[in-house]
Amino acid sequence: MNLSKFVDELPVPSVLKPRQKDRFHTYYEVNMTQFQQSLHRDLPETTVWGFEGVYPGPTFEVESGEKVFVKWISNLPDKHLLPVDHTVHGAHLGVPEVRTVIHLHGASVESESDGYPEAWFTKGFEQVGPHFSKEIYRYDNFMPACTLWYHDHVIGITRLNVYAGLAGFYLIRDQRERELNLPSGKFDIPLIIQDKSFHPDGSLSYPKQPKNPVHELDTSIIPEFSGDAIVVNGKVWPYFNVEPRKYRFRLLNGSNTRFYRLKLDSEQLLYHIATDSGLIEHPIGIKEILLAPAERVEVIIDFTNFEGKRIVMTNDAPFPFPDGEPVDSNTVGKVMEFRVVLPLSGKDTSEIPSFMVPFPKRRVQTASKFRFLTLTRRIDSYGRELMLLNDQDWDAPITENPKLGQTEVWYLLNLTNDTHPIHLHLIDFQVIDRRAFDVEKYKQTGILDYTGLAMPPTPQERGRKDTVIAYSNQVTRIIMKFGPYTGLYVWHCHILEHEDYVMMRPFRVLL
Ligand code: C2O
Ligand code: CU
Repeated sequence: MNLSKFVDELPVPSVLKPRQKDRFHTYYEVNMTQFQQSLHRDLPETTVWGFEGVYPGPTFEVESGEKVFVKWISNLPDKHLLPVDHTVHGAHLGVPEVRTVIHLHGASVESESDGYPEAWFTKGFEQVGPHFSKEIYRYDNFMPACTLWYHDHVIGITRLNVYAGLAGFYLIRDQRERELNLPSGKFDIPLIIQDKSFHPDGSLSYPKQPKNPVHELDTSIIPEFSGDAIVVNGKVWPYFNVEPRKYRFRLLNGSNTRFYRLKLDSEQLLYHIATDSGLIEHPIGIKEILLAPAERVEVIIDFTNFEGKRIVMTNDAPFPFPDGEPVDSNTVGKVMEFRVVLPLSGKDTSEIPSFMVPFPKRRVQTASKFRFLTLTRRIDSYGRELMLLNDQDWDAPITENPKLGQTEVWYLLNLTNDTHPIHLHLIDFQVIDRRAFDVEKYKQTGILDYTGLAMPPTPQERGRKDTVIAYSNQVTRIIMKFGPYTGLYVWHCHILEHEDYVMMRPFRVLL
């Protein structure tokens, strides 16, 4: 479908109102339903899934340390919008077709509220998964100011549930952030970037079969999904009217598979201020932003002196990233347009501070455990590609059992030809380095032989992270301290087609 660009205004998700709030806690109820929403001027309404009747869902705004309770409720239909593949783990015939469980991505949460993939539930909690333990989730929010997001995380159909619309922002604010006098209020805008494809009737398109169908059954799992339209905050190629002043944008890649390499066609600098898990030490001027699925980056863009200009945010990340097809600069090579057409509503007194928050580096010497973990690829019994962590299925016995309070270094050895954004629940980590190694030798002998020098994290990665890009034929090292909760969590590739099949493993933090 060829849709015109920049004809719909960017929606800014509304802020969710709590049901109850007092000094000790805040309580929300959030209802998931199916409904129709207009995603583009020239497209009939699209049937989507969302929270509180909107896609993307409303934004939570909470204070660091606030005790928040959320009852996630499903009123979704029994039949899925999109083709379910019953050969995928957890989605076999016999389990309810529509299941959900919500994970707050990037938050440090007690295990029972983390949205474990098998803690799913159906409409009215009529049926629940084997790990379901409670209806009301608890979020302690002791992280500093950061941009988090909530999304479905159910075993076997996360790719479909998120693609249908089950995602939204969750912002934590704090005093330090306010003192910094960053652009705020209507000048602080979250942007969730996704790629989708549509049928002419407006419905969402998602493949029913891989390119070379393997079976007459509904074997729809594909190794990667590529949409041909870019959707920001639920509108296809929107425009956003701005004042000639500074804005803070919270960019989130909420796509299933697609990576973005974003730039402004005005060639102006973006002031990078935050990574996945919050503010960095010093803003840095950057020309482009690389965002893998689930990664966040916050930037300040200064439109001062751009009165009357139209500035397009472009994307030139090949698909699949990084050695796939170059992007079509007329379609997915464009993201959205900023129009500097609003009059200044007041003097811009916001700042790009020179120092924001300290970033104490974790030292490798403090680690008491070093794990060598592989990212592997296999062919399944239907001849389809199957991606795994450590070459193990989801339900193999748990092999990662970090101790509470223990610092570990994980060596992610990518033996596949693909790039995988690896995400861990519960903790944030720091990227130590990346280093090329001899994959064939490793496969044959198990010996790790480096073939290049260690490369430090990119400037954009020098902060608290929860998702890291693990490139093919490289060892990516991360360091983290496990806590403050014990219990069952997961780590996985955030390409949702990989996560579902079945590049996800549990880990358990032990006391
Ligand atoms: Cu954004 Cu385990 O997820
Ligand atoms: Cu992957």
